[in-house]
Amino acid sequence: MARLHVVTGKGGTGKTTVAAAMALSLAEQGKRVLLVEVEGRQGLAQLFDVPPLPYVERRIAQGPGGGDVFALAVDAEAALLEYLDMYYHLGRAGKALDKVGAIDFVTTIAPGLRDVLLTGKVYEATRRKSHGRLAYDAVVLDAPPTGRIAPFLNVNHEVADLAKVGPIRNQADAIMGMLRSDVTRIHLVTLLEEMPVQETLDAVGQLEALDLRIGSIVVNMVRNSPLDDDALALAVKEKLPATEIGKGLRSAGIAVSKGLVATLVAEARDHAVRVGLERENRDRIDALGKKVTTLPLLPDGIDQGALFDLAEELRA
Ligand SMILES: Nc1ncnc2c1ncn2[C@@H]1O[C@H](COP(=O)(O)OP(=O)(O)O)[C@@H](O)[C@H]1O
Ligand SMILES: [Mg+2]
Repeated sequence: MARLHVVTGKGGTGKTTVAAAMALSLAEQGKRVLLVEVEGRQGLAQLFDVPPLPYVERRIAQGPGGGDVFALAVDAEAALLEYLDMYYHLGRAGKALDKVGAIDFVTTIAPGLRDVLLTGKVYEATRRKSHGRLAYDAVVLDAPPTGRIAPFLNVNHEVADLAKVGPIRNQADAIMGMLRSDVTRIHLVTLLEEMPVQETLDAVGQLEALDLRIGSIVVNMVRNSPLDDDALALAVKEKLPATEIGKGLRSAGIAVSKGLVATLVAEARDHAVRVGLERENRDRIDALGKKVTTLPLLPDGIDQGALFDLAEELRA
């Protein structure tokens, strides 16, 4: 049922990367997927290594399943002009407004209006029909970060409170209706670190209080420890056997000194402590009772190939 996938997370956790990988994973045979960004950062253009995206939907990639991924960078000013044109046929007059800076003024002075325009555009693209069928099989939104996601998605509820009747009220109700329905799922990207996990827990609480639906928690950049549980337990106490470490180093052709072994034992302790903290954070995520997906830390960073690898992981 879900066709609108909203991807949020603390900044730097991989929101843009995961949104792009999700769009690719949804682009199965013949499917058309729209990947939308609303933060004005041109993160998608950077990720796919193309020139900055204009306010036009254009094909940006082909999914591993042979479908198409289109991308759109929504710009609030352009969305307002489009809106004025659609409802008031203000085409040329609208452009004149823009020249005198009125549009900039309006969207800056009322930050809530910005979110109304951005969510309005996402709503329009998600339900758009062409040739009697949906223009896009799925829309993936690289959304604002966890700290802003609840007010962002709820802005049309505020509008509905202000406009008691009329077309603006109807539009606001329709957008909230879609965002709260089976059509929409919100995915939260996190790392297994204290702050992003805390923000994830807070955001889940805020979103559910607004009747918005969580899809999955995506734990990104997961590193698997090369040590088993017994070794980790020893490592925490700095009790890994020094003689064995020395033997291993020598057999690898490395000159061994006492200082080297001590340094490695200390590093192993730090590693084991970190693994312990990651496990605690994972427990806090699991306690939410949501579907959890993990994505590995790709050691060489994210290029096109890596995006496809992450898309395959998501699909699996
Ligand atoms: N699974 C991963 N493995 C390796 N690097 C990653 C992974 N996911 C994201 N990154 C890198 O982390 C950085 C932040 O990712 P980005 O998607 O821009 O985060 P956000 O949109 O949340 O700010 C980028 O440099 C990106 O290439
Ligand atoms: Mg981003």
